[in-house]
Amino acid sequence: LTRLASDYGDVAHFQLANEHVVLLNHPDYIYDVLVRQAGSLVKGRSMQVARRVLGNGLLTSEDPYHRQQRRITQPAFHQQRISAYADVMIHHAVRTSSRWQPESTIDVNREMMGVTLGIIAETLFGATLQDEASAIWAAMTETMEYLNLVRLPFGELLMRLPAPPTRRAARARARMDDSVARMVGARRENRAAAHSDLLETLLSARTEDGAALSDAQVRDEVITIFLTGHETVAVALTWTWYLLAQHPDVEARLHAEVDSVLDSRPPCAARLSELRYTRMVLAESMRLYPPAWAVARRAATDIRVGSYDLPAGTLLLASQFVTHRDARFFPRPERFDPGRWSRDVGDGHGAPGGDHHPRLAYFPFGGGPRACIGEGFAWTEAILVLAVLARGWRLRRISRQPVELHPLVSLRPKHDVQMRLERR
Ligand code: HEM
Repeated sequence: LTRLASDYGDVAHFQLANEHVVLLNHPDYIYDVLVRQAGSLVKGRSMQVARRVLGNGLLTSEDPYHRQQRRITQPAFHQQRISAYADVMIHHAVRTSSRWQPESTIDVNREMMGVTLGIIAETLFGATLQDEASAIWAAMTETMEYLNLVRLPFGELLMRLPAPPTRRAARARARMDDSVARMVGARRENRAAAHSDLLETLLSARTEDGAALSDAQVRDEVITIFLTGHETVAVALTWTWYLLAQHPDVEARLHAEVDSVLDSRPPCAARLSELRYTRMVLAESMRLYPPAWAVARRAATDIRVGSYDLPAGTLLLASQFVTHRDARFFPRPERFDPGRWSRDVGDGHGAPGGDHHPRLAYFPFGGGPRACIGEGFAWTEAILVLAVLARGWRLRRISRQPVELHPLVSLRPKHDVQMRLERR
C-alpha cells in the first residue's frame, strides 16, 4: 500500500481478483469517506467475513440496526464508567509487574496480551468469570486464525468447503457461543448482586420501544467487545516497548514523568491527566505502528470522492499505516518523536489528531459514525499499564534485527518480541 501511494498519489486504483479497489491517501478524501459520505458506504469485505464469528455486533452491523446498538452500548463507554474501570486496569498491571523477574526474558507481545485479556475479561464480565473468559479467548483465537484465510487468494472459497479448518472453526465457534450463553444465563439469574461491568450495561440496555436485548444480541456485542478491546491495546503497548528500547532519550523522559507522577502515591484514574508525556509516547507509537492498519468501506451507491466518480460496489481503502507516515502531514515521518504531539495533548486530556494536524491525517481509531467506541477506554488502559510497568521496569531488546510487521486483523509483530527485564 505504501508503494502504491508513493507511485500513484492521493487516489490509487487497483484490481484484486475481480474487485475494484481505490486506496485513498489524503486526509480530505479519508474524511469524505469515513465522515461526510458515511451514509452512502457500508463496511468492506473483511467485515462481512468477520460477521461469521462476531455475528451482528457493533463492528459488523449496518444502519439502522447499528445506530440503535451504538446508542444503547454507549453508556458503557462514558468517561465516568471508564474511570471506574481504571482500578481494574491498574490491578492487572501491578500484578504483571510483581510477577516479572529481573534479568529474565519475556515475549513482550505475549505479556501485553495477557494483561489486556485480564483487563477486558474483568471489565466485561466481572472478576468471577475469568476462567470462562480464557476459554472464550482460546476459541476466538482459533476462529480468527480461520478468518485470516480471507487474506489468501481463494480464501473465501476455502472457507465454504468442509475442509479441516472450516470444521475446526465451527467447533471453536460453538464452544465460544456456549461459554457466552452460560455467562449471560448465569448473570440473568443473578441480577440482584451489584455488578458494574460491561455485561450489566448490555443486559440493562433498552431499545427505543423499551425492549431488552435478546440473548443473541448480547452474545454478538460481548464477542465483539471482547475481540476489539483486547488485541489492539496489546499490540499498541508491544510496539511502544519496542520503540522505547531504541530511543533512550524518550525512555528517560517517560521514566522521569512516571517517577514523579506515581511516586509514593498509588496510581489511580485521577493521575491520568498528569501522565501527559506517557500519552504523547503512545500517540506517537500508534502513529508509526497503528494497531488498526487500514479501514475499508464499500460504496452502497455511486459516489464522488474529490474529482473521481466511483460506481456503487467500489471498495475504498484508507490505511492508517500509510497516511501516518506521509511526510506532508508528519515531517520526518520515520522519526519516533513524541514531542510532535505536545500541543494536541494540551492539558493532558486532549486526543491527538485534533486541531494541530489536518483532520484524519492521524486516525488510529477511525472516524465518523463508525469510529472506535472504545477509544477512551483504550487511552486510559494503555496509559495506565505503560506507566505502572515503566515505573518498575526497563525492557531491553535482545536481538538487533528489526521486528517485521505481520498485518493481520491487527498490526502484529511477525515473530516473538523477546526482551530482557531490568528492574529500575
Ligand atoms: C489501541 C486500541 C484500539 C484501536 C487502535 C482501535 C481501532 C478501531 C478502529 C480503527 C475502529 C473503526 C473500524 C472501521 O472504521 O471500520 C474501531 C471500531 C471499534 N472498536 Fe476499537 N480500537 C481500539 C480499542 C478498542 C477497545 C478497548 C474497545 C472496547 C473495549 C474497542 C471497541 C471497538 C468497537 C465496538 C468498534 C466498532 C464501533 C462501531 O462500528 O460502532 N476498540 N476500533
